[in-house]
Amino acid sequence: MIDKPEAGKGGEARPLKVRLKKARKLSSSSQKWLQRQLNDPYVARAKREGWRSRAAFKLIEIDDKVKILKPGMRVVDLGAAPGGWSQVAAQRIGLENGRGRIVAIDLLEIDPIAGVDFAQMDFLKDDAPEALKAMLGGSADLVMSDMAANTTGHRPTDHLRIVGLVELAIDFARQVLAPNGAFIAKVFQGGTEGTLLTALKRDFTTVRHVKPQASRADSAELYVVATGFRG
Ligand SMILES: C[S@@+](CC[C@H](N)C(=O)[O-])C[C@H]1O[C@@H](n2cnc3c(N)ncnc32)[C@H](O)[C@@H]1O
Repeated sequence: MIDKPEAGKGGEARPLKVRLKKARKLSSSSQKWLQRQLNDPYVARAKREGWRSRAAFKLIEIDDKVKILKPGMRVVDLGAAPGGWSQVAAQRIGLENGRGRIVAIDLLEIDPIAGVDFAQMDFLKDDAPEALKAMLGGSADLVMSDMAANTTGHRPTDHLRIVGLVELAIDFARQVLAPNGAFIAKVFQGGTEGTLLTALKRDFTTVRHVKPQASRADSAELYVVATGFRG
């Protein structure tokens, strides 16, 4: 059950806050999630602007800052559902006008996006890289991964899973990227330290970390952005 939105005190232009009455059927974590969604300005903006996810704004911010997406680029989107990043990439590479290419995968199905070649697939399966390469039919200019493993609540396990996903994504990027290509991946604070960062610095001319404003401040999530693949 949802209370009527309340106006801010003093009449200043503060967004109205939606409050949930205790809904017995929802666990307290689900209630918290729902309340946060209802009050999240990025969720409302995504809906208004036709993006499938609030995550779309993260790629918009990253790309506005680092300027990676260019017309005609060939892009791989790992962990694409529900499709926000593919939408952003499609717009910026000119997919609607027949320019560029996007190959996307996720564990979950997505509603089709015009021009995007999507496969429901587990990236951790041994045959996933070859299947992706076959879909791509050539090299890529950008490999981007917003994949996030389900968390167990056991920090060391979660950390290892996240690092594992990023390592595999980097490995795949190395196999398909054209010289000067780029790599973007979701990592978590501490996720690209040590060997991961050393490997990226060896293979790319520039490696930086970006924390988009659309990435919740209380989340340890951030993105590693590597450009200038040495090939
Ligand atoms: C944060 S969401 C991606 C949101 C997306 N970038 C967007 O803009 O709509 C993370 C996605 O990673 C996917 N994922 C996690 N592990 C995966 C795996 N092993 N293989 C493929 N997809 C995976 C999840 O199913 C989930 O849809």
